[in-house]
Amino acid sequence: MSKVWSDRFDTSLNPFIEEFNASINFDKKLILEDIQCSIAHAKMLGKSKVLSSEDSIKIIEGLEIIKDQFLKGTFSPQPPSEDIHYCIEEKLINLIGETGKKLHTGRSRNDQVGTDIRLWLRKKIDKIDVLIVNLQKSLLVHADANLYTLIPGYTHMQRAQPLSLAHHLLAYVEMFQRDRQRLQEVRARVNVCPLGAAALAGTKIKIDRYFTADELGFDSIYKNSIDAVSDRDFCIEFVSASALIMSHLSRISEEIILWVTDEFSYAKLTDRCATGSSLMPQKKNPDIPELIRGKTGRVYGHLQALLTIIKGVPLSYNKDFQEDKEPIFDTVTTISNCLKAMTILIDEGIEFNVDNLTEAVEKDFSNATDVADYLVEKNVPFRKAYQIVGQIVKYCLTKKILFKDLTLEEFQKFHIQFQQDIFENINPVNVVKSRNSIGGTGFDQVKIELNSWKKQLLA
Ligand code: ARG
Repeated sequence: MSKVWSDRFDTSLNPFIEEFNASINFDKKLILEDIQCSIAHAKMLGKSKVLSSEDSIKIIEGLEIIKDQFLKGTFSPQPPSEDIHYCIEEKLINLIGETGKKLHTGRSRNDQVGTDIRLWLRKKIDKIDVLIVNLQKSLLVHADANLYTLIPGYTHMQRAQPLSLAHHLLAYVEMFQRDRQRLQEVRARVNVCPLGAAALAGTKIKIDRYFTADELGFDSIYKNSIDAVSDRDFCIEFVSASALIMSHLSRISEEIILWVTDEFSYAKLTDRCATGSSLMPQKKNPDIPELIRGKTGRVYGHLQALLTIIKGVPLSYNKDFQEDKEPIFDTVTTISNCLKAMTILIDEGIEFNVDNLTEAVEKDFSNATDVADYLVEKNVPFRKAYQIVGQIVKYCLTKKILFKDLTLEEFQKFHIQFQQDIFENINPVNVVKSRNSIGGTGFDQVKIELNSWKKQLLA
């Protein structure tokens, strides 16, 4: 196939190099955005009288036909076209003849590809936002049902203080909310139009950049044509925000994997999201959270790839930028699939073992802070109270008992201020209930949290 530039060259491309240079096999994903961008450009050329209105209309109609054919499945972009931009231009010329050759007036593939990828990413960000909200809602349903279910809270993977399970789950809702905010911030920088920057320097053709930006729903336009074709910050920002989403998904995956072990038994996998072993008949494996945890690696990898691709590239457009697409495409696919899978897992893949959870918080010293706080309320300085409770823990450990097994007399040997009500104070339900500082795990606080999320997510 002869190339657009063939007249300037003597021989054809080496076939392997031709394939090596091409991006059509992956950038065909941008077909609808490429057509959308070209329609806006052709419209603007007509309106600005760069093209006659007949030519502009003919081009637009041609592009609409290509779009229809693609949507009906009668046309699909493929080699030997080098990339999606050439592919559509070639197809248009085939379809409408000489007029099609006027489409590329006053633009370059450099500003075109920047526009296409922004249009594509903007759409995907909006879809990912919906997927995150769905996951938040699933977590909220479990949180709402488990306000009074207690779960051991950990620091350093050591039992620390008991928590309301709702509070624990809502921590993830908060994390995913920050992810949504970050994506919105990225979206604002994605939504800037580079079209009209042409190759790098702008154009002498009398184009109207505001018109195309407006047609395509961009908030603003790039002010510097060199920056417009050289900027890939938004790709890095998007993948960086996605890497954090994956880290959050990976952390909740890890917790679920622990919770469903025999050792923890805080939850069990339902048959909807668990898999068996090929060898060990008794096994029920958490493949889904493991896969999500594993897929985190590829998104981190894409972030590293993009940072490295951009780092040494001088201004302005360089072909290195063609390498931006696959990491972005795969990031979108990976986070979308992982968000969907996690939502299904939360919705129908796990059941909490409420009895085991209740029992678990009874069997440890995670109420030790409450024994100390009890003395603090009786005017014992905290550090002193802390030391006394340390001695009580040591005493209990040698006797292989818990605080609740001590007699009042034994308590009083450590401090005279202990009264009968100490036993009420160290009961796990009361321990959780009493943590009523703002944002704490006390039931009243968690109720406020739950209500505020219900208002935000279910309204
Ligand atoms: N396929 C190219 C890309 O993805 C399109 C832009 C090419 N521009 C150029 N001057 N070679 O970046």
